[in-house]
Amino acid sequence: MTENKNKKILRTAQGAPVSDNQNSVTAGSRGPVLMQDFHLTEKLAHFNRERIPERVVHAKGAGAHGYFEVTNDVTKWTKAKFLSNVGKRTPMFARFSTVAGEKGAADAERDPRGFALKFYTEDGNYDLVGNNTPVFFIRDAIKFPDFIHTQKRHPATNCKDPNAIWDFWSLSPESLHQVTILFSDRGTPKTNRHMNGYGSHTFKWTNADGESVWVKYHFKTEQGIENYTNEEAVKLAGVDPDHATRDLYESIEKGDYPAWKVYVQIMPLEDADRYEFDPFDVTKVWRQSDYPLIPIGRMVLDSNPKNYFAEVEQSAFSPANIVPGIDFSPDKMLQGRLFAYGDAHRYRVGGNGDLLKINRPITESNANYQRDGVMRCDDNGGDSVHYEPNSLGGPKESPEHTPAPFVVSGTVESVAYDKDDHYTQPGDLYRLLSEREKSRLISNIVGAMKPVKKEIQLRQIEHFRKADPEYGARVAEGLGVPATAAK
Ligand code: HEM
Repeated sequence: MTENKNKKILRTAQGAPVSDNQNSVTAGSRGPVLMQDFHLTEKLAHFNRERIPERVVHAKGAGAHGYFEVTNDVTKWTKAKFLSNVGKRTPMFARFSTVAGEKGAADAERDPRGFALKFYTEDGNYDLVGNNTPVFFIRDAIKFPDFIHTQKRHPATNCKDPNAIWDFWSLSPESLHQVTILFSDRGTPKTNRHMNGYGSHTFKWTNADGESVWVKYHFKTEQGIENYTNEEAVKLAGVDPDHATRDLYESIEKGDYPAWKVYVQIMPLEDADRYEFDPFDVTKVWRQSDYPLIPIGRMVLDSNPKNYFAEVEQSAFSPANIVPGIDFSPDKMLQGRLFAYGDAHRYRVGGNGDLLKINRPITESNANYQRDGVMRCDDNGGDSVHYEPNSLGGPKESPEHTPAPFVVSGTVESVAYDKDDHYTQPGDLYRLLSEREKSRLISNIVGAMKPVKKEIQLRQIEHFRKADPEYGARVAEGLGVPATAAK
């Protein structure tokens, strides 16, 4: 047999050539398999370790690479380097996801969609880990694990549990705004390309003179907003559970690059105390009539991952990843998230997950004194100094990057939000919908609440009613609950 000189030799992980990858080593043709078949045991053992824990939320997702381009001058508000010049491009990676389902869940499920972005800037990675909705169900991180338990499976039946979902929402009226969005047409976006994205929380921008403003981000799809009806989404979930994953991949493969125009709302710091509600409350939007959308840039996704596991599954986004010129707000949810993501990453991809190519910043590597740990897969700082302070020329802190100071005062205690209007904004949203949109909203809610206990239905109808009497009456009617019973 003539040997192909260019053929690649199959090797073990240790580099030894493999002589047979089809037949195990046995004692005779019918004999038992021998322990000495190290290629077999290595292969089986590595296979057993192929899975890492899936994300505890947002497990099903699709990602792509692209860039962000600045289109408008924002230097009067922020000194963030990647936003410093009109025309400047920054490479980025985006991951879209559903929230509640497991890694194999259907893309078409009614759920918010994650809209997670990583900008590889010269000052380190800036992550904006938002959703396709401008608000969230709750506004204090302490409620997040309980909320997510209601979205997952019943402890005994291991089935989804509508009673838990609506029990929690009906006892957490701050969820009404997001619930109204979720059961509207926007709860079932056609694809990841056909939806907007939002930073959702309030963040802080600071300029080169140390002056700060509050900021919210909006990403408006250039593909146009398109949604499925509930019937279409339910059917698609069955026949094509990966439709949005494939859509993103294929549209990029054929050069039809999805893009979003990026806007911000800017609020002067002093307005925060006098605005009609707490501007750090993530269950509320800032009215665009008060704080109009200001264009700042454009995001384009133009390249697919070569390897899903390496780039999408191992990607790790954290709201704590900020760059000079951008800072946090006192939003209680955001503050809780600043801990949650890094902690999740250390569990999911390991303490050195930041070194993975998809998560690694483009800044100088090993510019700190972190060393060792499981899967330290770079040169671990080589022979460079591993303590600080030192007189050996190791990296030093840069006081010029100190964030703008923020004065706070108050008593240390568990404090509820002082402004508690859960109904005006969901009511406004309901009244904004066309009659057909309202009918679909009511029908979607009624369908989801049908299996729920009467006492929970009544409690939730009361919230709809407080947002708008017609909203409550129509849900009550759909559920066959007498309007009077709901009062
Ligand atoms: C993923 C926690 C609220 C958007 C995750 C993950 C955790 C988490 C642990 C998995 C991270 C990983 O394994 O990589 C929390 C907590 C919250 C919260 C504790 C509230 C205190 C929110 C909010 C939003 C959001 C308000 C959007 C506005 C996302 C997105 C992902 C995610 C987009 C997926 C990121 C990716 O694609 O890898 N969250 N979350 N989360 N969360 Fe949250």
